[in-house]
Amino acid sequence: MSRNLIIYYSRRGQNYVGGSIVNLARGNTELVVGYIADAVGADLFEVVTAKPYSEDYTACTEEAKAELRSHARPELRNYLSDISGYDRITVAGPCWWGTYPCGVFTQLEKLDFTGKRVFPLMTHEGSGLGRAVRDLRDCCRGADIGAGLAVWGSEAPDARETVSAWARQHLA
Ligand SMILES: Cc1cc2nc3c(=O)[nH]c(=O)nc-3n(C[C@H](O)[C@H](O)[C@H](O)COP(=O)(O)O)c2cc1C
Repeated sequence: MSRNLIIYYSRRGQNYVGGSIVNLARGNTELVVGYIADAVGADLFEVVTAKPYSEDYTACTEEAKAELRSHARPELRNYLSDISGYDRITVAGPCWWGTYPCGVFTQLEKLDFTGKRVFPLMTHEGSGLGRAVRDLRDCCRGADIGAGLAVWGSEAPDARETVSAWARQHLA
């Protein structure tokens, strides 16, 4: 078993990239997670909500905003229950209204992070890491929060080298 774990969320389909709506065959975060796994090896856990968000980009942004306002913890299709075999855990996801999608917190709140090193990774269209570091500090009790990485979603297809260098520095 790899000692690296990546817990990630990524949404395929309609997204807003560089000022226009496009259809992504693979989500931006999913691409970036693949670069890390290739560079240093990692087990992956994908957060998938039981109820999918709207395919329409604008409708999805409204659903995400409502969830955030109500501190929702949406049900997931599968849950990870044990992270005792991992030293370093990367939490990767898109920036949604300044933080991770609520389903990421559904999962994180079920885990014991005592003694773990947690690395924030966010893809975004301008907000960088947003509130990721603060929110992970609050949520991953017992964890030491390591250096984060923010990747512009629109640059994700070309970010392999940058992401691999970050992964080799912090996760190898
Ligand atoms: C619901 C929603 C909310 C978003 N909110 C923000 C935001 O607050 N700041 C930002 O920089 N980008 C925001 N974005 C853009 C995404 O963070 C960006 O496109 C990301 O790379 C998508 O990753 P994914 O393809 O892995 O889901 C938002 C996108 C969606 C769908």
